[in-house]
Amino acid sequence: MRGMDLHARFPAIADLRARARARVPRFVWDYLDSATGTGATQARNRAALDAVLLRPSVLHGEVVPDLSVPLLGARPALPVGIAPVGMSGLVWPRAEHHLARAAAELGIPYTLSTVASRTPEDLGDDLGKPAWFQMYPPRDPEIRADMLARARDAGFDTLVLTVDVPVASRRERQLRSGLTQPPRLTPRLLAQVAARPAWAAGMARHGMPRMRLIDDYAGRTSGLSSTAHAGYLLRTAPDWDYLRWLRDAWGGPLVVKGVLEAETAARLEAEGVDAVWVSNHAGRQFDAAPATLESLRGIRGATALPVILDGGIAGGLDILRAFALGADFVMLGRAWHYALAALGPAGPAHLADVLRADLVANMGQLGLAHPAQARARLIAP
Ligand SMILES: Cc1cc2nc3c(=O)[nH]c(=O)nc-3n(C[C@H](O)[C@H](O)[C@H](O)COP(=O)(O)O)c2cc1C
Repeated sequence: MRGMDLHARFPAIADLRARARARVPRFVWDYLDSATGTGATQARNRAALDAVLLRPSVLHGEVVPDLSVPLLGARPALPVGIAPVGMSGLVWPRAEHHLARAAAELGIPYTLSTVASRTPEDLGDDLGKPAWFQMYPPRDPEIRADMLARARDAGFDTLVLTVDVPVASRRERQLRSGLTQPPRLTPRLLAQVAARPAWAAGMARHGMPRMRLIDDYAGRTSGLSSTAHAGYLLRTAPDWDYLRWLRDAWGGPLVVKGVLEAETAARLEAEGVDAVWVSNHAGRQFDAAPATLESLRGIRGATALPVILDGGIAGGLDILRAFALGADFVMLGRAWHYALAALGPAGPAHLADVLRADLVANMGQLGLAHPAQARARLIAP
Protein backbone atom coordinates (compact mmCIF):
# COMPACT_ATOMS: atom_id res chain seq x y z
CA MET A 1 0.00 0.00 0.00
CA ARG A 2 1.32 3.41 -0.94
CA GLY A 3 1.73 6.17 1.63
CA MET A 4 -1.35 8.09 0.49
CA ASP A 5 -3.49 4.98 0.70
CA LEU A 6 -2.31 4.29 4.22
CA HIS A 7 -3.30 7.75 5.41
CA ALA A 8 -6.70 7.43 3.78
CA ARG A 9 -7.37 3.97 5.16
CA PHE A 10 -5.70 4.20 8.57
CA PRO A 11 -5.76 7.85 9.64
CA ALA A 12 -6.04 6.97 13.35
CA ILE A 13 -4.91 4.34 15.84
CA ALA A 14 -8.53 3.13 15.98
CA ASP A 15 -8.24 2.09 12.31
CA LEU A 16 -5.04 0.15 12.97
CA ARG A 17 -6.66 -1.49 15.99
CA ALA A 18 -9.66 -2.66 13.97
CA ARG A 19 -7.50 -4.17 11.26
CA ALA A 20 -5.17 -5.78 13.81
CA ARG A 21 -8.13 -7.43 15.46
CA ALA A 22 -9.16 -8.96 12.16
CA ARG A 23 -5.64 -10.26 11.49
CA VAL A 24 -4.61 -12.03 14.71
CA PRO A 25 -6.19 -15.13 16.31
CA ARG A 26 -8.71 -14.50 19.03
CA PHE A 27 -6.45 -15.67 21.89
CA VAL A 28 -3.70 -13.32 20.72
CA TRP A 29 -6.15 -10.44 20.62
CA ASP A 30 -7.32 -11.28 24.12
CA TYR A 31 -3.71 -11.29 25.32
CA LEU A 32 -2.91 -7.93 23.74
CA ASP A 33 -6.08 -6.09 24.51
CA SER A 34 -7.35 -7.35 27.85
CA ALA A 35 -7.03 -5.66 31.21
CA THR A 36 -7.72 -7.15 34.63
CA GLY A 37 -11.12 -7.30 36.31
CA THR A 38 -13.84 -5.49 34.43
CA GLY A 39 -11.42 -3.16 32.68
CA ALA A 40 -12.39 -0.18 34.83
CA THR A 41 -8.82 1.09 35.25
CA GLN A 42 -8.23 0.87 31.53
CA ALA A 43 -11.43 2.86 30.93
CA ARG A 44 -10.39 5.42 33.57
CA ASN A 45 -7.15 6.08 31.72
CA ARG A 46 -9.18 7.01 28.65
CA ALA A 47 -11.76 9.05 30.54
CA ALA A 48 -9.05 11.09 32.28
CA LEU A 49 -7.45 11.92 28.93
CA ASP A 50 -10.77 13.02 27.46
CA ALA A 51 -11.38 15.26 30.46
CA VAL A 52 -8.28 17.38 29.80
CA LEU A 53 -9.20 20.54 27.90
CA LEU A 54 -6.72 22.91 26.34
CA ARG A 55 -7.22 26.49 25.21
CA PRO A 56 -6.87 26.89 21.45
CA SER A 57 -4.78 29.88 20.47
CA VAL A 58 -5.57 32.44 17.76
CA LEU A 59 -3.60 35.22 16.10
CA HIS A 60 -0.29 33.65 17.11
CA GLY A 61 1.24 33.94 13.62
CA GLU A 62 3.39 31.24 12.02
CA VAL A 63 4.72 28.64 14.44
CA VAL A 64 7.14 25.96 13.29
CA PRO A 65 6.62 22.91 15.50
CA ASP A 66 9.66 21.03 16.78
CA LEU A 67 8.59 17.59 17.98
CA SER A 68 11.92 16.58 19.50
CA VAL A 69 12.24 16.64 23.29
CA PRO A 70 15.12 16.22 25.75
CA LEU A 71 15.14 12.93 27.67
CA LEU A 72 17.91 11.40 29.79
CA GLY A 73 20.77 12.96 27.86
CA ALA A 74 19.25 12.16 24.46
CA ARG A 75 16.88 14.05 22.21
CA PRO A 76 14.25 11.71 20.74
CA ALA A 77 12.83 13.03 17.46
CA LEU A 78 9.28 12.51 18.73
CA PRO A 79 7.89 12.92 22.27
CA VAL A 80 6.85 9.26 22.28
CA GLY A 81 8.57 5.88 22.54
CA ILE A 82 7.86 2.15 22.53
CA ALA A 83 6.87 0.63 25.88
CA PRO A 84 7.88 -2.93 26.83
CA VAL A 85 5.45 -5.66 25.83
CA GLY A 86 6.02 -9.23 26.92
CA MET A 87 5.76 -11.90 24.21
CA SER A 88 5.63 -9.13 21.63
CA GLY A 89 6.46 -11.75 19.02
CA LEU A 90 3.18 -13.53 19.66
CA VAL A 91 1.29 -10.54 18.30
CA TRP A 92 3.27 -10.50 15.08
CA PRO A 93 6.25 -12.59 13.94
CA ARG A 94 9.60 -10.97 14.74
CA ALA A 95 7.81 -8.04 16.39
CA GLU A 96 10.80 -7.14 18.57
CA HIS A 97 13.08 -6.85 15.52
CA HIS A 98 10.61 -4.72 13.59
CA LEU A 99 9.93 -2.42 16.53
CA ALA A 100 13.58 -2.01 17.50
CA ARG A 101 14.50 -1.18 13.91
CA ALA A 102 11.60 1.24 13.50
CA ALA A 103 12.56 3.01 16.72
CA ALA A 104 16.18 3.28 15.56
CA GLU A 105 15.07 4.76 12.24
CA LEU A 106 12.64 7.15 13.93
CA GLY A 107 15.14 8.19 16.62
CA ILE A 108 12.90 7.22 19.55
CA PRO A 109 13.47 4.83 22.49
CA TYR A 110 12.63 1.15 22.14
CA THR A 111 12.09 -0.81 25.35
CA LEU A 112 12.70 -4.57 25.31
CA SER A 113 10.82 -6.57 27.97
CA THR A 114 12.47 -9.23 30.13
CA VAL A 115 9.66 -11.51 28.99
CA ALA A 116 9.83 -10.62 25.31
CA SER A 117 10.26 -13.42 22.83
CA ARG A 118 13.77 -12.19 21.99
CA THR A 119 16.85 -11.84 24.18
CA PRO A 120 18.85 -8.59 24.30
CA GLU A 121 21.53 -10.16 22.06
CA ASP A 122 18.98 -11.42 19.51
CA LEU A 123 18.19 -7.91 18.34
CA GLY A 124 21.71 -7.42 16.98
CA ASP A 125 21.88 -4.75 14.28
CA ASP A 126 18.18 -3.94 14.62
CA LEU A 127 18.85 -2.19 17.92
CA GLY A 128 19.58 1.54 17.73
CA LYS A 129 19.63 4.31 20.34
CA PRO A 130 18.10 5.08 22.76
CA ALA A 131 17.80 1.41 23.74
CA TRP A 132 16.02 0.61 26.99
CA PHE A 133 15.91 -2.74 28.73
CA GLN A 134 12.94 -3.39 31.03
CA MET A 135 13.65 -5.64 33.96
CA TYR A 136 11.28 -7.74 35.96
CA PRO A 137 13.32 -8.23 39.11
CA PRO A 138 14.96 -11.67 39.15
CA ARG A 139 15.06 -13.38 42.54
CA ASP A 140 18.50 -14.93 42.16
CA PRO A 141 21.37 -12.41 42.59
CA GLU A 142 23.56 -14.18 40.04
CA ILE A 143 20.82 -14.14 37.42
CA ARG A 144 20.18 -10.50 38.27
CA ALA A 145 23.80 -9.53 37.68
CA ASP A 146 24.05 -11.65 34.55
CA MET A 147 20.91 -10.10 33.06
CA LEU A 148 22.26 -6.59 33.62
CA ALA A 149 25.60 -7.46 32.05
CA ARG A 150 23.90 -9.04 29.05
CA ALA A 151 21.67 -6.01 28.51
CA ARG A 152 24.62 -3.63 28.76
CA ASP A 153 26.83 -5.72 26.46
CA ALA A 154 24.03 -5.99 23.90
CA GLY A 155 23.90 -2.18 23.64
CA PHE A 156 21.10 -1.17 26.00
CA ASP A 157 21.83 2.21 27.59
CA THR A 158 18.90 2.66 30.00
CA LEU A 159 17.40 0.26 32.53
CA VAL A 160 13.70 0.26 33.36
CA LEU A 161 12.63 -1.48 36.56
CA THR A 162 8.94 -2.37 36.50
CA VAL A 163 7.47 -2.32 40.00
CA ASP A 164 3.74 -2.69 39.44
CA VAL A 165 3.79 -6.47 39.18
CA PRO A 166 4.47 -7.53 42.81
CA VAL A 167 2.25 -10.52 42.14
CA ALA A 168 0.60 -11.92 39.02
CA SER A 169 -2.73 -10.35 38.18
CA ARG A 170 -5.66 -12.50 37.15
CA ARG A 171 -6.70 -11.09 33.76
CA GLU A 172 -9.85 -13.11 33.59
CA ARG A 173 -10.43 -12.54 29.89
CA GLN A 174 -6.99 -13.85 29.10
CA LEU A 175 -7.58 -16.90 31.30
CA ARG A 176 -10.82 -17.62 29.48
CA SER A 177 -9.06 -17.40 26.13
CA GLY A 178 -7.05 -20.55 26.91
CA LEU A 179 -3.59 -19.03 26.29
CA THR A 180 -0.80 -20.80 28.23
CA GLN A 181 2.84 -19.94 28.80
CA PRO A 182 4.59 -21.04 26.64
CA PRO A 183 1.73 -20.95 24.13
CA ARG A 184 0.36 -24.44 23.46
CA LEU A 185 -1.89 -24.85 20.45
CA THR A 186 -4.88 -26.81 21.65
CA PRO A 187 -7.57 -27.73 19.07
CA ARG A 188 -9.58 -24.67 20.13
CA LEU A 189 -6.64 -22.32 19.61
CA LEU A 190 -5.68 -24.06 16.35
CA ALA A 191 -9.14 -23.33 14.98
CA GLN A 192 -8.59 -19.65 15.79
CA VAL A 193 -5.20 -19.74 14.06
CA ALA A 194 -6.72 -21.31 10.95
CA ALA A 195 -9.01 -18.31 10.64
CA ARG A 196 -6.02 -15.91 10.46
CA PRO A 197 -3.87 -17.02 7.51
CA ALA A 198 -1.35 -14.15 7.47
CA TRP A 199 -0.54 -14.60 11.15
CA ALA A 200 -0.41 -18.38 10.74
CA ALA A 201 1.97 -18.14 7.78
CA GLY A 202 4.32 -15.90 9.76
CA MET A 203 4.36 -18.24 12.72
CA ALA A 204 4.87 -21.25 10.45
CA ARG A 205 7.91 -19.54 8.99
CA HIS A 206 9.43 -18.23 12.22
CA GLY A 207 8.11 -20.67 14.85
CA MET A 208 5.91 -20.09 17.88
CA PRO A 209 7.51 -17.51 20.17
CA ARG A 210 8.89 -18.31 23.62
CA MET A 211 10.34 -16.19 26.42
CA ARG A 212 13.89 -16.80 25.29
CA LEU A 213 15.66 -14.86 28.03
CA ILE A 214 13.75 -16.81 30.66
CA ASP A 215 14.52 -20.06 28.84
CA ASP A 216 18.22 -19.23 29.12
CA TYR A 217 17.96 -19.18 32.91
CA ALA A 218 15.46 -21.99 33.27
CA GLY A 219 18.17 -24.63 33.57
CA ARG A 220 19.55 -22.99 36.70
CA THR A 221 16.33 -23.45 38.62
CA SER A 222 15.95 -27.17 38.24
CA GLY A 223 12.85 -29.03 39.26
CA LEU A 224 10.41 -26.48 37.85
CA SER A 225 8.15 -26.90 34.87
CA SER A 226 8.77 -24.41 32.10
CA THR A 227 5.47 -22.72 32.92
CA ALA A 228 6.64 -22.09 36.47
CA HIS A 229 10.02 -20.68 35.45
CA ALA A 230 8.98 -17.14 34.61
CA GLY A 231 6.98 -16.96 37.81
CA TYR A 232 9.74 -18.30 40.03
CA LEU A 233 12.49 -16.29 38.43
CA LEU A 234 10.77 -12.97 38.21
CA ARG A 235 7.66 -12.77 40.27
CA THR A 236 9.34 -11.08 43.15
CA ALA A 237 8.23 -8.03 45.00
CA PRO A 238 11.39 -5.91 45.08
CA ASP A 239 11.95 -3.48 47.96
CA TRP A 240 14.02 -0.35 48.43
CA ASP A 241 17.18 -2.37 49.15
CA TYR A 242 16.70 -4.15 45.86
CA LEU A 243 16.35 -0.81 44.11
CA ARG A 244 19.59 0.50 45.64
CA TRP A 245 21.42 -2.65 44.63
CA LEU A 246 20.15 -2.27 41.09
CA ARG A 247 21.03 1.40 40.89
CA ASP A 248 24.63 0.67 41.94
CA ALA A 249 25.02 -2.47 39.83
CA TRP A 250 23.67 -0.85 36.66
CA GLY A 251 25.48 2.48 36.92
CA GLY A 252 23.65 4.03 33.91
CA PRO A 253 20.28 5.77 33.70
CA LEU A 254 17.62 3.98 35.75
CA VAL A 255 13.88 4.49 35.21
CA VAL A 256 11.25 3.10 37.58
CA LYS A 257 8.01 2.10 35.83
CA GLY A 258 4.62 1.67 37.46
CA VAL A 259 4.61 4.65 39.83
CA LEU A 260 1.24 6.17 40.79
CA GLU A 261 1.98 7.97 44.07
CA ALA A 262 3.64 11.33 44.64
CA GLU A 263 5.47 10.10 47.78
CA THR A 264 6.96 7.20 45.83
CA ALA A 265 8.18 9.57 43.13
CA ALA A 266 9.80 11.87 45.71
CA ARG A 267 11.53 8.95 47.41
CA LEU A 268 12.76 7.56 44.09
CA GLU A 269 14.36 10.92 43.38
CA ALA A 270 16.06 10.88 46.78
CA GLU A 271 17.36 7.36 46.05
CA GLY A 272 19.09 8.52 42.88
CA VAL A 273 16.74 7.19 40.23
CA ASP A 274 16.87 9.12 36.93
CA ALA A 275 13.24 9.15 35.78
CA VAL A 276 9.79 8.13 36.96
CA TRP A 277 7.41 6.29 34.63
CA VAL A 278 3.78 6.84 35.60
CA SER A 279 1.90 3.71 34.55
CA ASN A 280 -0.81 1.34 35.71
CA HIS A 281 0.26 -1.28 33.17
CA ALA A 282 -2.66 -0.29 30.91
CA GLY A 283 -5.05 -1.50 33.59
CA ARG A 284 -3.69 -5.03 33.43
CA GLN A 285 -2.69 -5.34 37.09
CA PHE A 286 -5.16 -3.70 39.46
CA ASP A 287 -8.68 -2.63 38.64
CA ALA A 288 -9.07 0.02 41.34
CA ALA A 289 -6.00 2.00 40.30
CA PRO A 290 -6.28 5.69 39.47
CA ALA A 291 -5.92 6.88 35.90
CA THR A 292 -2.31 7.61 35.07
CA LEU A 293 -3.15 11.16 34.09
CA GLU A 294 -4.76 11.76 37.49
CA SER A 295 -1.66 10.43 39.24
CA LEU A 296 0.54 12.61 37.09
CA ARG A 297 -0.81 15.80 38.67
CA GLY A 298 0.52 14.92 42.13
CA ILE A 299 3.71 13.32 40.90
CA ARG A 300 4.67 16.35 38.81
CA GLY A 301 4.51 18.48 41.91
CA ALA A 302 6.56 16.04 43.99
CA THR A 303 9.66 15.57 41.86
CA ALA A 304 12.00 17.42 39.54
CA LEU A 305 12.85 14.16 37.74
CA PRO A 306 11.74 13.60 34.15
CA VAL A 307 8.28 12.06 34.24
CA ILE A 308 7.18 9.57 31.59
CA LEU A 309 3.51 8.62 31.20
CA ASP A 310 1.63 5.82 29.48
CA GLY A 311 -1.84 4.28 29.42
CA GLY A 312 -4.41 4.61 26.67
CA ILE A 313 -2.64 7.28 24.64
CA ALA A 314 -4.50 7.24 21.33
CA GLY A 315 -3.01 10.05 19.29
CA GLY A 316 -1.00 13.25 19.16
CA LEU A 317 -3.61 15.22 21.07
CA ASP A 318 -3.36 12.79 23.99
CA ILE A 319 0.40 13.27 24.01
CA LEU A 320 -0.14 17.03 24.32
CA ARG A 321 -2.66 16.45 27.11
CA ALA A 322 -0.04 14.46 29.02
CA PHE A 323 2.55 17.21 28.46
CA ALA A 324 0.00 19.80 29.59
CA LEU A 325 -0.23 18.03 32.94
CA GLY A 326 3.53 17.89 33.31
CA ALA A 327 4.75 14.77 31.50
CA ASP A 328 8.16 15.05 29.82
CA PHE A 329 7.71 12.02 27.60
CA VAL A 330 5.00 9.56 26.62
CA MET A 331 5.09 5.85 25.88
CA LEU A 332 2.75 3.67 23.84
CA GLY A 333 2.47 -0.09 24.21
CA ARG A 334 -0.47 -1.61 22.40
CA ALA A 335 -0.68 0.90 19.54
CA TRP A 336 2.69 -0.15 18.10
CA HIS A 337 1.44 -3.72 18.10
CA TYR A 338 -1.85 -2.77 16.45
CA ALA A 339 0.23 -1.11 13.74
CA LEU A 340 2.44 -4.17 13.26
CA ALA A 341 -0.45 -6.61 13.17
CA ALA A 342 -2.42 -4.36 10.81
CA LEU A 343 0.32 -3.51 8.32
CA GLY A 344 3.29 -5.77 9.03
CA PRO A 345 6.78 -4.23 9.15
CA ALA A 346 5.49 -0.99 7.55
CA GLY A 347 3.11 -0.48 10.48
CA PRO A 348 5.31 1.24 13.05
CA ALA A 349 6.50 3.92 10.60
CA HIS A 350 2.91 4.59 9.61
CA LEU A 351 1.89 4.93 13.24
CA ALA A 352 4.71 7.40 13.75
CA ASP A 353 3.41 9.36 10.73
CA VAL A 354 -0.08 9.40 12.24
CA LEU A 355 1.24 10.62 15.59
CA ARG A 356 3.42 13.24 13.92
CA ALA A 357 0.55 14.56 11.80
CA ASP A 358 -1.78 14.68 14.78
CA LEU A 359 0.83 16.44 16.92
CA VAL A 360 1.51 19.04 14.23
CA ALA A 361 -2.19 19.68 13.61
CA ASN A 362 -2.96 20.14 17.30
CA MET A 363 0.18 22.11 18.08
CA GLY A 364 -0.94 24.44 15.29
CA GLN A 365 -4.30 24.93 17.01
CA LEU A 366 -2.53 25.64 20.27
CA GLY A 367 0.22 27.81 18.81
CA LEU A 368 2.99 25.61 20.21
CA ALA A 369 6.55 25.32 18.96
CA HIS A 370 7.36 22.58 21.51
CA PRO A 371 5.18 19.94 23.20
CA ALA A 372 6.15 21.18 26.67
CA GLN A 373 4.49 24.52 25.93
CA ALA A 374 1.15 22.69 26.19
CA ARG A 375 1.34 23.37 29.96
CA ALA A 376 0.49 27.00 29.31
CA ARG A 377 -2.65 26.02 27.41
CA LEU A 378 -4.18 23.79 30.13
CA ILE A 379 -7.63 24.74 31.30
CA ALA A 380 -7.57 24.03 35.01
CA PRO A 381 -10.40 21.65 35.95
C1 LIG B 1 0.30 -7.33 25.94
C2 LIG B 1 1.03 -6.44 26.91
C3 LIG B 1 2.19 -6.91 27.52
C4 LIG B 1 2.89 -6.09 28.40
N1 LIG B 1 4.07 -6.56 28.94
C5 LIG B 1 4.81 -5.74 29.72
C6 LIG B 1 6.07 -6.16 30.20
O1 LIG B 1 6.56 -7.24 29.89
N2 LIG B 1 6.74 -5.31 31.02
C7 LIG B 1 6.25 -4.09 31.39
O2 LIG B 1 6.90 -3.36 32.13
N3 LIG B 1 5.06 -3.66 30.91
C8 LIG B 1 4.34 -4.45 30.09
N4 LIG B 1 3.15 -3.99 29.59
C9 LIG B 1 2.70 -2.63 29.90
C10 LIG B 1 3.23 -1.64 28.85
O3 LIG B 1 4.61 -1.48 28.95
C11 LIG B 1 2.60 -0.25 29.02
O4 LIG B 1 2.72 0.17 30.36
C12 LIG B 1 1.14 -0.16 28.59
O5 LIG B 1 0.84 -1.07 27.56
C13 LIG B 1 0.83 1.26 28.14
O6 LIG B 1 -0.49 1.42 27.78
P1 LIG B 1 -1.01 1.40 26.26
O7 LIG B 1 -0.87 -0.01 25.79
O8 LIG B 1 -2.41 1.84 26.40
O9 LIG B 1 -0.17 2.35 25.46
C14 LIG B 1 2.42 -4.80 28.71
C15 LIG B 1 1.26 -4.33 28.09
C16 LIG B 1 0.57 -5.13 27.19
C17 LIG B 1 -0.64 -4.57 26.51
